[in-house]
Amino acid sequence: MCGIVGYIGKQKTVDILLDGLKELEYRGYDSAGIALLNCEKISVYKALGKLSNLEEKIQHSNLCASYDLGIGHTRWATHGKPTELNAHPHLGEYSYVVHNGIIENYKELKEELLSHGHKFVSQTDTEVIVHLFEYYQNQFNDCTQAFQSTIKRLEGAYSILLISKACPHSIYFFKHGSPLIVARGNNENEVLFASSDAPLIGLCSEVVYLEDGFGGVASKEGIVFFNEALVSWSSLPTSKQFAQKEGFRFFMEKEIYEQSNVVSDTMLGRIFDNSIAFDELNASLMEGIREIKICACGTSYHAGLTASYLFERLAKVKCSVEIASEFRYKEPLLSNDTLFIVISQSGETADTLEALKMAKKNGLKSIVVCNVDNSSMTRVADYAILTRAGIEKGVASTKAFSTQVVVLWMLALYFAKYKKSIDTQTLQNEIHALREVPSALLVTNSVHERTKRLSKRYLHGHGFFFIGRDVFFPLALEGALKLKEISYLHAEGYPAGEMKHGPIALADPELFTIALMPQNLLYDKIKSNVEELSARDSTICAISPLSFELADDFIPTNLKNHYMLEFFEMLVVLQLFSMEISVRLGNDVDMPRNLAKSVTVE
Ligand code: G6P
Repeated sequence: MCGIVGYIGKQKTVDILLDGLKELEYRGYDSAGIALLNCEKISVYKALGKLSNLEEKIQHSNLCASYDLGIGHTRWATHGKPTELNAHPHLGEYSYVVHNGIIENYKELKEELLSHGHKFVSQTDTEVIVHLFEYYQNQFNDCTQAFQSTIKRLEGAYSILLISKACPHSIYFFKHGSPLIVARGNNENEVLFASSDAPLIGLCSEVVYLEDGFGGVASKEGIVFFNEALVSWSSLPTSKQFAQKEGFRFFMEKEIYEQSNVVSDTMLGRIFDNSIAFDELNASLMEGIREIKICACGTSYHAGLTASYLFERLAKVKCSVEIASEFRYKEPLLSNDTLFIVISQSGETADTLEALKMAKKNGLKSIVVCNVDNSSMTRVADYAILTRAGIEKGVASTKAFSTQVVVLWMLALYFAKYKKSIDTQTLQNEIHALREVPSALLVTNSVHERTKRLSKRYLHGHGFFFIGRDVFFPLALEGALKLKEISYLHAEGYPAGEMKHGPIALADPELFTIALMPQNLLYDKIKSNVEELSARDSTICAISPLSFELADDFIPTNLKNHYMLEFFEMLVVLQLFSMEISVRLGNDVDMPRNLAKSVTVE
């Protein structure tokens, strides 16, 4: 959700900013912009749409040979349509700001500033920041005092970089609720900023992951924090491990193919013949715990739903799952015999982060299952289990989901062993099945070709129902979400047994039913549900290891001896299916319209 970068130093500022924005573009691509400062002159470039449009614009402009510093932004629109006028950086009279987050009280502030004669040109909430700064700067003639007074007035979530002709050698920065990292560059007198660490890797080795309420001012003389004593520096890997497409057409495709390998990393050092180990956890964690509550958004929520079946079935612990944005405002009754688990690829999703903070405030023990080390959630939760999926760039999440489910399955077994709710033989069988997950996730040529060929029959129609039972219900939800995200076709995930309570009224040949029919779990039950739909003429695409004569189309999966292995094999089929439909429709697979990879606003 928006990406921001900043640079002070002797290298070519424009290149550093554009390279950084490239790393962040998956977070938002409605528009992009940079502001460059050189000897009190600020040059600004903005373009609508993807970063390549901005690059093109810059190529055709008369850039100076060097700039002392600059700030940049890639936008996912919240307030104000995606237009060039609404693109960041936003200007006052003589200052510019880039911002990630939402200023909740911007309307009041705007009214006030209008009454002081300030003129606004955009529809964004961000523009008030720069005007407020100039309002105070005009009064105090002191940039630091003006910036601090500005921050005091802002409500909401934000990370900010601000430059001004009034203090032409500095970048002011502040973090409250949205992520921001400050780094000392590898070269002398160099300072870098970014809203996540990807743009910084290779350029610096020492960073500060700013906490909420932290800010300061940077110049080539160094970085001055407003609360210096509390700042802690940490290291960053020096090798550039930027995710590249490696011959695949899209990041999403690469990430689907990668799953088989990355889940091995997820399990590394965590599974043994008779036990599961998590070095990150303390064995006493489950003491006094009677219930688990899971909270997440989007795909991570689907991983949570899947886990709820496993926690109850294997660990015999009561488990409920909540969508984070619902949980926050329902005035939930929380007691400290509940273990609170949040799941998040990014570790930054605003609603999940706030839900986690709420649980902590109420004294609950908490775990985050997360892909990004040092993200906000890993720093807030009592325990963090990393999924080790590597950087995920496709906006439609794939490998983050499979690694989350593997972690949660292992966690269910870890709790099961602790609670003695599972016998040794069952535990061994489960662990044996876990070891088979990498092969269940392998993409074979035949499956990929089959989904490619079938995709052309599923481009039109009035909707899709993905149906399944038990853990295949959350998988159906995930299959439908993938299709919606990148094909823009209407799709719903539904519990197969529930279709007859309403949705079956929609059945006709133009209603596509994607039926998840595993051999090892409730096969006969789901078969009856699909028969009911077929009798009402819905077009059926069955995904199953067992042939099903009523299916119009059939995607065969391999016979397996554990339903979770069928789960992972079907997951790959659903991911490929949605990707191939999106390709046929000519959509942008990696950057679908209106979406962002990490949603840091509520
Ligand atoms: C966004 C992404 C989804 C993701 C969701 C939760 O909507 O587009 O792919 O599942 O946020 O993100 P998180 O990082 O918390 O897993």
